[in-house]
Amino acid sequence: MSLKQMKKIELHLHLEGAAPPAFIRGLAAEKKIDIHRAFDERGHYAYRDFVHFLQVYEAATSVLQTPEDYARLLQAVLQESAEHGVIYTELFVSPDFCGGSDVAAWRDYLAALQSTAAEAEAKLGITARGIVTCIRHFGPDKARASALCAAETAGDFITGFGIAGDEGIGKPGDYLWSFDCAREAGLRLTAHAGEWGGPQSVRDAVRDLGVERIGHGVRAIEDLALVDELGERAITLEVCPGSNVALGLYPAWRKHPIETLRERGLKVTVSTDDPPFFHTTMTREYEELERAFGWDEAIFAEIHRNALDAAFCDTATRDRIA
Ligand code: ADE
Ligand code: ZN
Repeated sequence: MSLKQMKKIELHLHLEGAAPPAFIRGLAAEKKIDIHRAFDERGHYAYRDFVHFLQVYEAATSVLQTPEDYARLLQAVLQESAEHGVIYTELFVSPDFCGGSDVAAWRDYLAALQSTAAEAEAKLGITARGIVTCIRHFGPDKARASALCAAETAGDFITGFGIAGDEGIGKPGDYLWSFDCAREAGLRLTAHAGEWGGPQSVRDAVRDLGVERIGHGVRAIEDLALVDELGERAITLEVCPGSNVALGLYPAWRKHPIETLRERGLKVTVSTDDPPFFHTTMTREYEELERAFGWDEAIFAEIHRNALDAAFCDTATRDRIA
């Protein structure tokens, strides 16, 4: 079986970050919004570094203005994922971008997303769940509003809560109220950490917020006592190697710590993060891991099991996709 056909589970995919550039340019033209600076001469997203990437991401997102825009985006994203063998995907969705964290507006966006996901499940055989995500550089007040949206809509589709954005700003503990609010609503928890912040950032996310998964988390490798603590706490890492290489965190795939983390016993999974920004797909991630570390079917099966075990879905869904 080719790597493309192999069944995959993706746990870390930002919905806006998965928008194809042509899709965003099309919406910008329809709405007469000038965002040409987000693209290079070949039409690819263009950014200089991580902070600029976040700015370009938000510029692209500015053309997504209605529940219908989001429904069209989700349809395109799930179609692309399914073509790469993804049978289950968890998408980060942000009330900040979907109605400005107003609960009534968020419900409208969510209804559009949920019906699109149901259609894709019936037509394409891909199951999707949403993780409501606050944005760290928008600050703790905005995060509270997102957490309230998440808590109000926790259920079959919204199953998790998390935090993305600029890890250089503030500390995980600043967001404790939001994480407690989401936890009390029954949501499962994850946080981006250990991407641009070092081991202490991962330690803080795990100890202060009580998350069960870490988005990225790869810089834990700089502190082996932390790696062992993550193992003892059975934390799963949502590793996005292509994202890390494209953003310059590691100079090459062979220098990426995913294999060392795996060999040390951590539960690692593989995702694309924001695929068109990083010129990647789930198939490309698998191909590069095969090339860099000699990963074979047995290791991909281990990764698949890790993702299944850590998925934010109920046991009936897990049994169905297993
Ligand atoms: N939002 C979208 N992609 C991200 C990343 N790689 N890190 C933090 N926030 C993000
Ligand atoms: Zn991410």
